[in-house]
Amino acid sequence: MNAATAPDILSPEFAEDPYSAYRVMRESHPLIWHEPTASYVISRYRDVVRAFKEPVFTSRNYDWQLEPVHGRTILQMDGREHSTKRNLVASAFRGKDLAEKFVPVIERNSAGLIDGFRATGSVDLVAEYATRFPIDVIVDMLGLPTSDHDLFHRWYTTIMAFLANLSGDEEVTRAGLATKAEFEDYLLPIVAERRQHPGEDLLSVLCTAEIDGVVMTEQEIKAFCSLLLVAGGETTDKAITSVMRNLVAHPEQLRAVRDDRSLIPAAFAETLRLTPPVHMIMRQPAEDVELSGGTVEAGRTVTCLIGAANRDPEQYADPDTFDLHRPDLDMSRAYTAGANHTAFALGRHFCVGALLARTELEIGISQLLDAMDDIRFTDGAAPPEHGVFTRAPQSLRLTFTPTS
Ligand code: HEM
Repeated sequence: MNAATAPDILSPEFAEDPYSAYRVMRESHPLIWHEPTASYVISRYRDVVRAFKEPVFTSRNYDWQLEPVHGRTILQMDGREHSTKRNLVASAFRGKDLAEKFVPVIERNSAGLIDGFRATGSVDLVAEYATRFPIDVIVDMLGLPTSDHDLFHRWYTTIMAFLANLSGDEEVTRAGLATKAEFEDYLLPIVAERRQHPGEDLLSVLCTAEIDGVVMTEQEIKAFCSLLLVAGGETTDKAITSVMRNLVAHPEQLRAVRDDRSLIPAAFAETLRLTPPVHMIMRQPAEDVELSGGTVEAGRTVTCLIGAANRDPEQYADPDTFDLHRPDLDMSRAYTAGANHTAFALGRHFCVGALLARTELEIGISQLLDAMDDIRFTDGAAPPEHGVFTRAPQSLRLTFTPTS
Protein backbone atom coordinates (compact mmCIF):
# COMPACT_ATOMS: atom_id res chain seq x y z
CA MET A 1 0.00 0.00 0.00
CA ASN A 2 1.29 3.47 -0.89
CA ALA A 3 2.11 5.37 2.31
CA ALA A 4 1.17 8.64 0.55
CA THR A 5 -2.49 7.58 0.23
CA ALA A 6 -4.64 7.33 3.31
CA PRO A 7 -6.28 3.86 3.46
CA ASP A 8 -10.05 3.77 2.97
CA ILE A 9 -11.87 1.75 5.66
CA LEU A 10 -14.65 0.93 3.18
CA SER A 11 -12.36 -0.40 0.41
CA PRO A 12 -12.14 -4.12 -0.52
CA GLU A 13 -8.36 -4.08 0.20
CA PHE A 14 -9.06 -2.89 3.71
CA ALA A 15 -11.67 -5.62 4.28
CA GLU A 16 -9.19 -8.22 3.08
CA ASP A 17 -6.27 -7.06 5.23
CA PRO A 18 -6.99 -4.22 7.65
CA TYR A 19 -3.76 -4.87 9.56
CA SER A 20 -1.49 -3.57 6.75
CA ALA A 21 -3.71 -0.50 6.46
CA TYR A 22 -3.59 0.02 10.24
CA ARG A 23 0.23 0.13 10.03
CA VAL A 24 0.13 2.83 7.32
CA MET A 25 -2.45 4.81 9.29
CA ARG A 26 -0.53 4.70 12.59
CA GLU A 27 2.72 5.67 10.89
CA SER A 28 1.67 8.26 8.30
CA HIS A 29 -2.04 9.06 8.65
CA PRO A 30 -2.96 9.12 12.35
CA LEU A 31 -5.97 11.37 11.69
CA ILE A 32 -7.96 10.81 8.49
CA TRP A 33 -11.14 12.63 7.49
CA HIS A 34 -13.22 9.89 5.87
CA GLU A 35 -15.96 11.47 3.77
CA PRO A 36 -18.19 8.38 3.16
CA THR A 37 -18.66 7.77 6.90
CA ALA A 38 -18.41 11.51 7.72
CA SER A 39 -15.96 10.70 10.49
CA TYR A 40 -12.35 11.19 11.55
CA VAL A 41 -10.48 7.87 11.76
CA ILE A 42 -7.86 7.40 14.50
CA SER A 43 -5.49 4.47 14.91
CA ARG A 44 -2.68 5.19 17.41
CA TYR A 45 -2.93 3.49 20.81
CA ARG A 46 -2.57 6.73 22.76
CA ASP A 47 -5.27 8.51 20.74
CA VAL A 48 -7.76 5.63 20.98
CA VAL A 49 -7.15 5.34 24.75
CA ARG A 50 -7.80 9.08 25.13
CA ALA A 51 -11.01 8.84 23.11
CA PHE A 52 -12.27 6.08 25.42
CA LYS A 53 -11.15 7.64 28.69
CA GLU A 54 -11.59 11.41 28.39
CA PRO A 55 -15.15 12.61 29.14
CA VAL A 56 -14.96 15.22 26.35
CA PHE A 57 -15.43 12.29 23.94
CA THR A 58 -19.16 11.64 24.40
CA SER A 59 -20.96 8.57 23.07
CA ARG A 60 -23.81 10.64 21.58
CA ASN A 61 -23.04 8.91 18.29
CA TYR A 62 -25.22 6.06 19.60
CA ASP A 63 -28.22 8.42 19.41
CA TRP A 64 -28.24 7.74 15.65
CA GLN A 65 -26.12 4.58 15.53
CA LEU A 66 -28.12 2.41 17.94
CA GLU A 67 -31.12 4.18 19.46
CA PRO A 68 -33.24 3.64 16.32
CA VAL A 69 -32.97 -0.14 16.75
CA HIS A 70 -32.63 -0.60 20.53
CA GLY A 71 -34.21 2.46 22.09
CA ARG A 72 -32.14 4.47 24.57
CA THR A 73 -29.45 2.44 26.40
CA ILE A 74 -26.57 3.03 28.83
CA LEU A 75 -24.16 3.14 25.88
CA GLN A 76 -25.28 6.66 24.95
CA MET A 77 -25.67 8.02 28.51
CA ASP A 78 -23.10 9.90 30.53
CA GLY A 79 -22.61 11.42 33.99
CA ARG A 80 -24.97 10.52 36.80
CA GLU A 81 -27.64 9.04 34.53
CA HIS A 82 -25.09 6.58 33.14
CA SER A 83 -23.63 5.55 36.49
CA THR A 84 -27.06 5.01 38.07
CA LYS A 85 -28.43 3.00 35.17
CA ARG A 86 -25.19 1.03 34.79
CA ASN A 87 -25.19 0.16 38.50
CA LEU A 88 -28.73 -1.16 38.17
CA VAL A 89 -27.55 -3.83 35.74
CA ALA A 90 -23.89 -4.35 36.62
CA SER A 91 -24.27 -6.54 39.71
CA ALA A 92 -25.89 -9.27 37.62
CA PHE A 93 -22.67 -9.60 35.62
CA ARG A 94 -20.14 -10.13 38.38
CA GLY A 95 -19.49 -11.80 41.71
CA LYS A 96 -22.10 -13.92 43.42
CA ASP A 97 -24.82 -13.70 40.77
CA LEU A 98 -22.41 -14.68 38.03
CA ALA A 99 -20.87 -17.55 39.97
CA GLU A 100 -23.99 -19.02 41.55
CA LYS A 101 -26.70 -18.51 38.99
CA PHE A 102 -25.04 -18.36 35.65
CA VAL A 103 -22.04 -20.71 35.70
CA PRO A 104 -24.38 -23.76 35.58
CA VAL A 105 -26.25 -22.13 32.66
CA ILE A 106 -22.97 -21.60 30.81
CA GLU A 107 -21.75 -25.16 31.50
CA ARG A 108 -25.03 -26.73 30.41
CA ASN A 109 -25.32 -24.78 27.16
CA SER A 110 -21.73 -25.38 26.12
CA ALA A 111 -21.87 -29.12 26.92
CA GLY A 112 -25.16 -29.53 25.03
CA LEU A 113 -23.70 -28.05 21.85
CA ILE A 114 -20.49 -30.09 22.10
CA ASP A 115 -22.55 -33.27 22.48
CA GLY A 116 -23.95 -32.52 19.03
CA PHE A 117 -20.58 -33.07 17.29
CA ARG A 118 -18.13 -34.65 19.78
CA ALA A 119 -18.32 -38.16 18.30
CA THR A 120 -17.93 -37.07 14.68
CA GLY A 121 -14.26 -36.01 14.62
CA SER A 122 -15.01 -32.84 12.65
CA VAL A 123 -16.89 -29.60 13.20
CA ASP A 124 -17.46 -26.13 11.83
CA LEU A 125 -16.95 -24.46 15.17
CA VAL A 126 -18.66 -21.23 14.07
CA ALA A 127 -21.91 -22.77 12.80
CA GLU A 128 -22.19 -25.59 15.31
CA TYR A 129 -20.92 -23.91 18.45
CA ALA A 130 -19.77 -20.27 18.56
CA THR A 131 -22.80 -18.56 16.99
CA ARG A 132 -25.17 -20.48 19.24
CA PHE A 133 -23.42 -20.70 22.63
CA PRO A 134 -23.36 -17.05 23.88
CA ILE A 135 -26.83 -16.26 22.58
CA ASP A 136 -28.26 -19.43 24.17
CA VAL A 137 -26.57 -18.36 27.43
CA ILE A 138 -28.13 -14.87 27.36
CA VAL A 139 -31.56 -16.21 26.41
CA ASP A 140 -31.33 -18.74 29.27
CA MET A 141 -30.03 -16.10 31.70
CA LEU A 142 -32.97 -13.84 30.83
CA GLY A 143 -35.31 -16.75 31.45
CA LEU A 144 -36.65 -16.74 27.87
CA PRO A 145 -37.37 -19.95 25.91
CA THR A 146 -34.25 -21.34 24.20
CA SER A 147 -36.66 -22.68 21.57
CA ASP A 148 -36.80 -19.07 20.33
CA HIS A 149 -33.07 -19.26 19.53
CA ASP A 150 -33.53 -18.86 15.76
CA LEU A 151 -35.65 -15.77 16.33
CA PHE A 152 -32.97 -14.20 18.56
CA HIS A 153 -30.28 -15.13 16.10
CA ARG A 154 -32.14 -13.39 13.27
CA TRP A 155 -32.74 -10.31 15.43
CA TYR A 156 -29.15 -9.93 16.51
CA THR A 157 -27.89 -10.43 12.98
CA THR A 158 -30.08 -7.60 11.64
CA ILE A 159 -29.25 -5.28 14.58
CA MET A 160 -25.54 -5.96 14.13
CA ALA A 161 -25.83 -5.22 10.41
CA PHE A 162 -27.58 -1.91 11.26
CA LEU A 163 -24.74 -0.96 13.59
CA ALA A 164 -22.08 -1.90 11.04
CA ASN A 165 -23.92 -0.22 8.13
CA LEU A 166 -21.11 2.26 7.44
CA SER A 167 -22.19 2.74 3.82
CA GLY A 168 -25.86 3.42 4.71
CA ASP A 169 -27.52 0.54 2.80
CA GLU A 170 -31.29 1.24 2.87
CA GLU A 171 -32.41 -2.40 3.06
CA VAL A 172 -30.16 -2.96 6.11
CA THR A 173 -31.69 0.12 7.76
CA ARG A 174 -35.23 -1.07 7.03
CA ALA A 175 -34.55 -4.58 8.43
CA GLY A 176 -33.02 -3.09 11.60
CA LEU A 177 -36.07 -0.90 12.23
CA ALA A 178 -38.45 -3.82 11.61
CA THR A 179 -36.51 -5.84 14.18
CA LYS A 180 -36.99 -3.15 16.79
CA ALA A 181 -40.78 -3.36 16.38
CA GLU A 182 -40.80 -7.17 16.45
CA PHE A 183 -38.61 -7.34 19.53
CA GLU A 184 -40.81 -4.82 21.34
CA ASP A 185 -43.97 -6.84 20.59
CA TYR A 186 -42.21 -9.95 21.83
CA LEU A 187 -40.65 -8.65 25.02
CA LEU A 188 -42.91 -5.96 26.52
CA PRO A 189 -45.70 -8.39 27.57
CA ILE A 190 -43.04 -10.66 29.17
CA VAL A 191 -41.54 -7.67 31.05
CA ALA A 192 -45.01 -6.73 32.37
CA GLU A 193 -45.51 -10.31 33.54
CA ARG A 194 -42.10 -10.51 35.32
CA ARG A 195 -42.76 -7.20 37.09
CA GLN A 196 -45.82 -8.88 38.63
CA HIS A 197 -44.25 -12.30 39.23
CA PRO A 198 -40.45 -12.00 39.39
CA GLY A 199 -38.32 -15.15 39.43
CA GLU A 200 -34.57 -15.74 39.77
CA ASP A 201 -33.66 -14.91 36.16
CA LEU A 202 -31.81 -11.86 34.81
CA LEU A 203 -34.96 -10.31 33.33
CA SER A 204 -36.60 -10.44 36.78
CA VAL A 205 -33.46 -8.86 38.28
CA LEU A 206 -33.74 -6.01 35.75
CA CYS A 207 -37.49 -5.64 36.49
CA THR A 208 -36.97 -5.37 40.26
CA ALA A 209 -33.56 -3.61 40.54
CA GLU A 210 -33.77 -0.30 42.41
CA ILE A 211 -31.15 2.24 43.53
CA ASP A 212 -32.25 5.28 45.59
CA GLY A 213 -35.79 4.90 44.31
CA VAL A 214 -34.70 4.72 40.66
CA VAL A 215 -35.97 1.72 38.69
CA MET A 216 -35.73 0.90 34.99
CA THR A 217 -38.79 1.69 32.88
CA GLU A 218 -40.25 -1.08 30.73
CA GLN A 219 -38.85 0.58 27.62
CA GLU A 220 -35.40 0.76 29.24
CA ILE A 221 -35.50 -2.92 30.17
CA LYS A 222 -36.52 -3.84 26.64
CA ALA A 223 -33.74 -1.65 25.21
CA PHE A 224 -31.15 -3.20 27.52
CA CYS A 225 -32.18 -6.76 26.59
CA SER A 226 -31.98 -5.86 22.93
CA LEU A 227 -28.49 -4.41 23.53
CA LEU A 228 -27.45 -7.59 25.37
CA LEU A 229 -28.26 -9.75 22.36
CA VAL A 230 -25.75 -7.81 20.28
CA ALA A 231 -23.22 -6.77 22.91
CA GLY A 232 -23.01 -10.22 24.47
CA GLY A 233 -23.81 -12.43 21.49
CA GLU A 234 -21.88 -11.41 18.40
CA THR A 235 -18.80 -10.34 20.38
CA THR A 236 -18.38 -13.52 22.42
CA ASP A 237 -19.19 -15.64 19.37
CA LYS A 238 -16.30 -14.04 17.49
CA ALA A 239 -14.01 -14.22 20.54
CA ILE A 240 -14.40 -18.00 20.91
CA THR A 241 -13.80 -18.54 17.21
CA SER A 242 -10.66 -16.37 17.22
CA VAL A 243 -9.21 -17.91 20.40
CA MET A 244 -9.54 -21.41 18.90
CA ARG A 245 -8.16 -20.26 15.56
CA ASN A 246 -5.15 -18.59 17.21
CA LEU A 247 -4.44 -21.62 19.40
CA VAL A 248 -4.76 -24.19 16.61
CA ALA A 249 -2.45 -22.02 14.50
CA HIS A 250 0.14 -22.17 17.33
CA PRO A 251 0.30 -25.85 18.38
CA GLU A 252 2.86 -25.30 21.16
CA GLN A 253 0.61 -22.67 22.79
CA LEU A 254 -2.42 -24.94 22.30
CA ARG A 255 -0.50 -27.70 24.13
CA ALA A 256 0.36 -25.33 26.98
CA VAL A 257 -3.31 -24.37 27.40
CA ARG A 258 -4.43 -28.00 27.15
CA ASP A 259 -2.01 -28.90 29.96
CA ASP A 260 -2.79 -25.86 32.11
CA ARG A 261 -6.34 -24.53 31.78
CA SER A 262 -5.54 -21.54 33.99
CA LEU A 263 -3.88 -20.12 30.84
CA ILE A 264 -7.25 -19.71 29.06
CA PRO A 265 -7.77 -16.11 30.29
CA ALA A 266 -4.29 -15.23 28.96
CA ALA A 267 -5.05 -16.86 25.58
CA PHE A 268 -8.34 -14.93 25.49
CA ALA A 269 -6.69 -11.61 26.47
CA GLU A 270 -3.98 -12.02 23.81
CA THR A 271 -6.69 -12.83 21.25
CA LEU A 272 -8.60 -9.69 22.29
CA ARG A 273 -5.44 -7.70 21.65
CA LEU A 274 -4.32 -9.28 18.37
CA THR A 275 -7.63 -10.15 16.72
CA PRO A 276 -10.37 -8.30 18.64
CA PRO A 277 -14.04 -9.13 17.92
CA VAL A 278 -14.93 -5.41 17.66
CA HIS A 279 -12.56 -3.40 15.45
CA MET A 280 -14.29 -0.02 15.50
CA ILE A 281 -16.11 2.08 18.09
CA MET A 282 -17.24 5.67 17.54
CA ARG A 283 -17.22 8.76 19.75
CA GLN A 284 -18.34 12.38 19.40
CA PRO A 285 -16.27 15.08 21.15
CA ALA A 286 -18.25 17.83 22.89
CA GLU A 287 -15.45 20.37 22.29
CA ASP A 288 -12.60 20.76 19.81
CA VAL A 289 -9.80 18.31 20.71
CA GLU A 290 -6.19 17.94 19.59
CA LEU A 291 -5.13 14.43 18.60
CA SER A 292 -2.07 13.16 16.70
CA GLY A 293 -2.28 14.77 13.30
CA GLY A 294 -4.58 17.71 14.06
CA THR A 295 -7.83 19.00 15.50
CA VAL A 296 -11.18 17.26 15.69
CA GLU A 297 -13.99 19.80 15.79
CA ALA A 298 -16.74 19.57 18.42
CA GLY A 299 -19.67 17.42 17.32
CA ARG A 300 -17.75 15.50 14.64
CA THR A 301 -17.76 11.69 14.76
CA VAL A 302 -14.47 9.92 15.51
CA THR A 303 -14.00 6.28 14.46
CA CYS A 304 -11.60 4.65 16.92
CA LEU A 305 -9.75 1.69 15.41
CA ILE A 306 -9.37 -0.83 18.24
CA GLY A 307 -7.67 -3.34 15.93
CA ALA A 308 -5.00 -0.75 15.05
CA ALA A 309 -4.45 0.54 18.60
CA ASN A 310 -3.98 -3.01 19.86
CA ARG A 311 -1.06 -3.55 17.46
CA ASP A 312 0.72 -0.26 18.05
CA PRO A 313 4.47 -1.01 18.30
CA GLU A 314 4.82 1.90 20.74
CA GLN A 315 2.76 -0.16 23.15
CA TYR A 316 3.63 -3.81 22.40
CA ALA A 317 6.86 -5.48 21.27
CA ASP A 318 6.44 -7.61 18.14
CA PRO A 319 2.75 -6.58 17.98
CA ASP A 320 1.67 -8.84 15.09
CA THR A 321 2.68 -12.04 16.91
CA PHE A 322 0.31 -14.18 18.99
CA ASP A 323 2.02 -14.83 22.34
CA LEU A 324 -0.12 -15.69 25.34
CA HIS A 325 2.94 -15.25 27.57
CA ARG A 326 3.72 -11.70 26.37
CA PRO A 327 4.94 -9.56 29.27
CA ASP A 328 3.64 -6.27 27.87
CA LEU A 329 -0.06 -7.25 28.05
CA ASP A 330 -1.24 -6.81 31.62
CA MET A 331 -3.04 -10.14 32.13
CA SER A 332 -4.04 -9.36 35.72
CA ARG A 333 -6.16 -6.38 34.61
CA ALA A 334 -7.18 -7.55 31.14
CA TYR A 335 -10.85 -7.89 32.20
CA THR A 336 -11.06 -4.62 34.14
CA ALA A 337 -11.28 -0.95 33.19
CA GLY A 338 -7.55 -0.82 34.03
CA ALA A 339 -6.76 -3.06 31.02
CA ASN A 340 -3.92 -2.05 28.71
CA HIS A 341 -5.65 -3.34 25.57
CA THR A 342 -8.67 -1.57 24.05
CA ALA A 343 -10.92 -4.50 23.01
CA PHE A 344 -13.53 -3.82 25.73
CA ALA A 345 -13.09 -0.02 25.38
CA LEU A 346 -11.94 1.79 28.56
CA GLY A 347 -13.30 4.40 30.92
CA ARG A 348 -16.95 4.68 31.90
CA HIS A 349 -18.35 2.50 29.09
CA PHE A 350 -15.85 -0.31 29.70
CA CYS A 351 -17.68 -3.53 28.78
CA VAL A 352 -20.08 -4.48 31.56
CA GLY A 353 -19.99 -8.12 30.39
CA ALA A 354 -16.20 -8.61 30.40
CA LEU A 355 -16.23 -11.01 33.35
CA LEU A 356 -19.18 -12.90 31.93
CA ALA A 357 -17.31 -13.21 28.62
CA ARG A 358 -14.21 -14.47 30.45
CA THR A 359 -16.29 -17.06 32.33
CA GLU A 360 -17.94 -18.22 29.08
CA LEU A 361 -14.53 -18.55 27.44
CA GLU A 362 -12.98 -20.38 30.41
CA ILE A 363 -15.78 -22.93 30.48
CA GLY A 364 -16.28 -23.18 26.72
CA ILE A 365 -12.63 -23.56 25.68
CA SER A 366 -11.94 -26.02 28.50
CA GLN A 367 -14.92 -28.20 27.52
CA LEU A 368 -13.87 -28.09 23.85
CA LEU A 369 -10.34 -29.22 24.73
CA ASP A 370 -11.76 -32.00 26.93
CA ALA A 371 -13.81 -33.30 24.01
CA MET A 372 -11.29 -32.80 21.18
CA ASP A 373 -7.76 -34.17 20.95
CA ASP A 374 -5.21 -33.57 18.21
CA ILE A 375 -7.09 -30.59 16.72
CA ARG A 376 -6.16 -29.50 13.18
CA PHE A 377 -7.53 -27.12 10.53
CA THR A 378 -9.59 -29.31 8.15
CA ASP A 379 -8.44 -27.19 5.19
CA GLY A 380 -4.78 -27.36 6.22
CA ALA A 381 -4.47 -23.68 7.13
CA ALA A 382 -6.13 -21.09 9.34
CA PRO A 383 -9.28 -19.64 7.69
CA PRO A 384 -9.28 -15.94 6.75
CA GLU A 385 -11.02 -13.35 8.91
CA HIS A 386 -14.13 -11.60 7.67
CA GLY A 387 -15.72 -8.25 8.53
CA VAL A 388 -14.65 -4.66 9.06
CA PHE A 389 -16.68 -3.45 12.04
CA THR A 390 -16.62 -6.79 13.82
CA ARG A 391 -14.18 -9.39 12.59
CA ALA A 392 -13.46 -13.14 12.85
CA PRO A 393 -13.43 -16.19 10.55
CA GLN A 394 -16.87 -16.90 9.07
CA SER A 395 -16.29 -20.61 9.47
CA LEU A 396 -13.71 -22.62 11.42
CA ARG A 397 -13.58 -26.19 10.16
CA LEU A 398 -11.63 -28.40 12.55
CA THR A 399 -10.74 -32.08 12.45
CA PHE A 400 -9.97 -33.83 15.74
CA THR A 401 -9.74 -37.14 17.57
CA PRO A 402 -12.74 -37.56 19.87
CA THR A 403 -11.72 -38.26 23.46
CA SER A 404 -13.34 -41.29 25.01
C1 HEM B 1 -15.44 -10.84 23.95
C2 HEM B 1 -16.61 -10.37 24.26
C3 HEM B 1 -16.95 -8.90 24.31
C4 HEM B 1 -16.35 -7.81 23.71
C5 HEM B 1 -15.12 -7.81 22.81
C6 HEM B 1 -17.09 -6.63 24.10
C7 HEM B 1 -16.79 -5.34 23.71
C8 HEM B 1 -17.38 -4.21 24.22
C9 HEM B 1 -16.98 -2.86 23.92
C10 HEM B 1 -15.87 -2.47 22.94
C11 HEM B 1 -17.78 -2.03 24.62
C12 HEM B 1 -17.71 -0.51 24.66
C13 HEM B 1 -18.64 0.15 23.68
C14 HEM B 1 -18.46 1.64 23.73
O1 HEM B 1 -17.82 2.16 24.65
O2 HEM B 1 -18.92 2.33 22.81
C15 HEM B 1 -18.71 -2.84 25.37
C16 HEM B 1 -19.70 -2.34 26.20
C17 HEM B 1 -20.72 -3.14 26.70
N1 HEM B 1 -20.77 -4.51 26.69
FE1 HEM B 1 -19.40 -5.77 25.91
N2 HEM B 1 -18.13 -7.02 24.90
C18 HEM B 1 -18.08 -8.39 25.06
C19 HEM B 1 -18.95 -9.16 25.82
C20 HEM B 1 -20.08 -8.71 26.45
C21 HEM B 1 -21.05 -9.52 27.13
C22 HEM B 1 -20.94 -11.04 27.31
C23 HEM B 1 -22.03 -8.68 27.58
C24 HEM B 1 -23.28 -9.00 28.36
C25 HEM B 1 -24.02 -10.04 28.20
C26 HEM B 1 -21.67 -7.33 27.19
C27 HEM B 1 -22.41 -6.19 27.46
C28 HEM B 1 -21.97 -4.90 27.27
C29 HEM B 1 -22.72 -3.72 27.67
C30 HEM B 1 -24.10 -3.71 28.34
C31 HEM B 1 -21.92 -2.61 27.33
C32 HEM B 1 -22.26 -1.14 27.56
C33 HEM B 1 -21.55 -0.63 28.80
C34 HEM B 1 -21.78 0.86 29.05
O3 HEM B 1 -22.15 1.60 28.14
O4 HEM B 1 -21.55 1.28 30.20
N3 HEM B 1 -20.48 -7.38 26.49
N4 HEM B 1 -18.43 -4.18 25.12
